Amino acid sequence: MACVNMNGMLAAAKSEGYAVGAFNILDYNSMKAVIEAAEELHAPVIVQVSVKTISLWGYRALHCWYEELAGDSVVPVVLHLDHCKEPEIIGNCIAHGWTSVMIDASGFPFERNMELTKQVVEMARPRNVTVEAELGEIGGVEDDLSVAEEDAHLADVEKSVLFCRETNPDLFAPAIGTAHGLYKGTPRIAYDRLEQIASRVPMPIALHGGTGLQDDVFTKCIRLGCAKINISTQLKRQFIISFTDHHERNPGDFEPVRYISCQYEAMKSDVRQFIRLFGSEGKA
Ligand code: 13P
Repeated sequence: MACVNMNGMLAAAKSEGYAVGAFNILDYNSMKAVIEAAEELHAPVIVQVSVKTISLWGYRALHCWYEELAGDSVVPVVLHLDHCKEPEIIGNCIAHGWTSVMIDASGFPFERNMELTKQVVEMARPRNVTVEAELGEIGGVEDDLSVAEEDAHLADVEKSVLFCRETNPDLFAPAIGTAHGLYKGTPRIAYDRLEQIASRVPMPIALHGGTGLQDDVFTKCIRLGCAKINISTQLKRQFIISFTDHHERNPGDFEPVRYISCQYEAMKSDVRQFIRLFGSEGKA
């Protein structure tokens, strides 16, 4: 059975010094591209879904696609809910068989973040569903969550230690200077902060805002303890650009299947590149 939660794959990634790619999908075609790229490269992979995408397709459809594509796969595949601050939505994912969830209560005061995270861990753990939690505020726009640059702030080390001890998530996402969406300038990554946090909390670390980071940033963050790397914007761009490019090159083509194939190939090719870059090729 290749439908798994994040625990085994991230423990292996952390101890062997590579990262598992978590790719935000948009539809059946993009989920297929992500899973089939991972299969080709024998890599573990995380299919990540934003709340907006759930609103479009529903919990059940997304889970059915996952079961169909990953159920008999030769590689382990996680179905993970990305940034969500609503316990009700998280509960629905768990009830529909999703294997992993993220509670992002980082926009609330610290105590409330701890309270909500604890509540989600209590709900998820008995169902064998893994939980990612966030501290600090990651800048940029992800789904309906928008954090202006001036409001983004790094996770505090002592608060990170307390937060992880009290809430005990499976995966910790501290804000370390990356941002969602396209970077306007060169991002200033707080490597020292990442190193201090990673050395003091026992769980693997998630790196958000992967689109647009330089190769050496990934390498360094992985070396410092990041075992899951999120990529969303790049796949969204490919989804649109591959489609419009095909139309520009073939203005008389009105066969949708060819457009869908172009999207598939473009997204799959990007996923392959990230898997190689993160060092997870051959790790499944
Ligand atoms: P990007 O959109 O910058 O790739 O970030 C993805 C992410 O962190 C999703 O949670």
